[in-house]
Amino acid sequence: MIHILAFLLFIALTFQSAVAIIYAPIGCYKDPLEEPRPLPELIENFRDGRVNWTNLNHTIAACAEAARKKGYLYFGLQFYGECWSGPQDKLNYARNGSSKNCDKGVGKDRANFVYKLPEECVNYRVLDSADRSMTNENKQGLKCDHWNFGFVRDVWYRFTGAAGQTMPDKCVSAGKCQTIMSGWMDGKHPQVDDGIQKRKACFSAENNCCKRKTDIHVRNCGEFYVYKLPSTPGCYLRYCGSGVSQNMNA
Ligand SMILES: *[C@@H]1O[C@H](CO)[C@@H](O)[C@H](O)[C@H]1NC(C)=O
Ligand SMILES: *[C@@H]1O[C@H](CO)[C@@H](O)[C@H](O)[C@H]1NC(C)=O
Ligand SMILES: *[C@@H]1O[C@H](CO)[C@@H](O)[C@H](O)[C@H]1NC(C)=O
Repeated sequence: MIHILAFLLFIALTFQSAVAIIYAPIGCYKDPLEEPRPLPELIENFRDGRVNWTNLNHTIAACAEAARKKGYLYFGLQFYGECWSGPQDKLNYARNGSSKNCDKGVGKDRANFVYKLPEECVNYRVLDSADRSMTNENKQGLKCDHWNFGFVRDVWYRFTGAAGQTMPDKCVSAGKCQTIMSGWMDGKHPQVDDGIQKRKACFSAENNCCKRKTDIHVRNCGEFYVYKLPSTPGCYLRYCGSGVSQNMNA
């Protein structure tokens, strides 16, 4: 039993580092240790034995994930293993000027090496209702992702919960996910390195998987995807979720 658990943990950790979130380097900045600190919150301290000294990129990636989970856009590493961040309105990472005291992508003492996460991977809305799942064949109380029906258009969405973790990328037949013309994404999901990609969302009718369509955007955030969705081109059209729940702890 212990062996199996250890093996699963190994798989989980391997998987996690393989799909790590992306972040852009901003630079090395001084932190004179005066309160409030330029990045005000110590959100995690990896100096408890979790710094991998042969490759600090693992520590940077773990700090990125910790910041994302808190909904923070910027983070910095100081003293190799301290992960500093904070809410947008309390950040002042460049306050005391730039520093030369960084190495291998992290700050040494009294310096933060600062990074920024992609905004759409931090600030998104969720679509998580069970009726949105492509496995839902109920046709009572049809729904529509049109602005006139209250759908907030042109913002980033993450599919999660009972709706599923992604948009389906193969034809979903008409009448699924509590609508008449069921929406799915025509094209593969991108890799982390691909950045924001353009795709088509198709809406299926009887005998036609792509009777109506619209342009959408998609981004791979590492452990999940986000989609920028416009209003559907009519009603009843709706974006379906894959309905397959996987890793729900992200
Ligand atoms: C860490 O990441 C940077 C930037 O992606 C890369 O240039 C560097 O080679 C990586 N370091 C190691 C030890 O893999
Ligand atoms: C530390 O990083 C090296 C190089 O990426 C890797 O081979 C090694 O498995 C890592 N060690 C741990 C404990 O994660
Ligand atoms: C750091 O910046 C703050 C705000 O501008 C300033 O009050 C403080 O004196 C600076 N500290 C140093 C050591 O330069």
